[in-house]
Amino acid sequence: MSNMGSEDDEKRLVGSKAADYVQSGMRIGIGTGSTAYWFIQALAQRVSQEGITIEGVATSKATVRLCRNLGIPMESIDRLDHLDLDVDGADEVNPQGQLIKGGGGALVRERLVARAADRFLVIVDHSKLVEDLGQFPLPIEVVPFAWKTTASRIADLGVEPELRKPQGKAFVTDNGNYILDVKWGPITDPEAVYRTLKLTAGVVDAGIFYEFSPTVLVANGRKVEERR
Ligand code: A5P
Repeated sequence: MSNMGSEDDEKRLVGSKAADYVQSGMRIGIGTGSTAYWFIQALAQRVSQEGITIEGVATSKATVRLCRNLGIPMESIDRLDHLDLDVDGADEVNPQGQLIKGGGGALVRERLVARAADRFLVIVDHSKLVEDLGQFPLPIEVVPFAWKTTASRIADLGVEPELRKPQGKAFVTDNGNYILDVKWGPITDPEAVYRTLKLTAGVVDAGIFYEFSPTVLVANGRKVEERR
């Protein structure tokens, strides 16, 4: 515990804490990323040690794999479209509880799962709290066969979309699409920006989650605080 207080430790702390929100019998949306990883570990422990019964719906193929390996029963969103709780990370959270998501490329499934849930619990370390969204590059999922023309339509809005290309190769989402990352700068009206992007031909979805009123669990040092 000597390094307690670093972002990684905070992710672990808040992810593990989120498992306390789960009750036996619940249908749970399960997020993607390095914070959700710790939630999944803690959830799996509750399943194996306490014997709680839950069904999970994952926000990515990676999460399905991890959950199945840890013995968490999983279903597809099409078979379980009403969830009690969704637990997921975020890249940025503003004071209104609006988010940027998709740093891991799972934004399409993350929105579907969050919309299916009665309650959305967002788990973050304190570095994710911002006054305005837009410092973190905004992920936009686009169809691969027209990514260049889609990027130039987005560029007409006065920004510079960049194709996500780890190790020089285009990143492909679980849905077979590409991601454009856009350094937007302060997004003062997240809903308006989201709507503009969604109306852009070639855009599948954008990582602005403006429409939820999540409970936000924030780790700060050794403390976890619940907001809203
Ligand atoms: C995945 O696509 C994302 O939306 C993640 O939820 C987000 O990037 C947070 O990830 P970390 O918990 O790894 O910071």
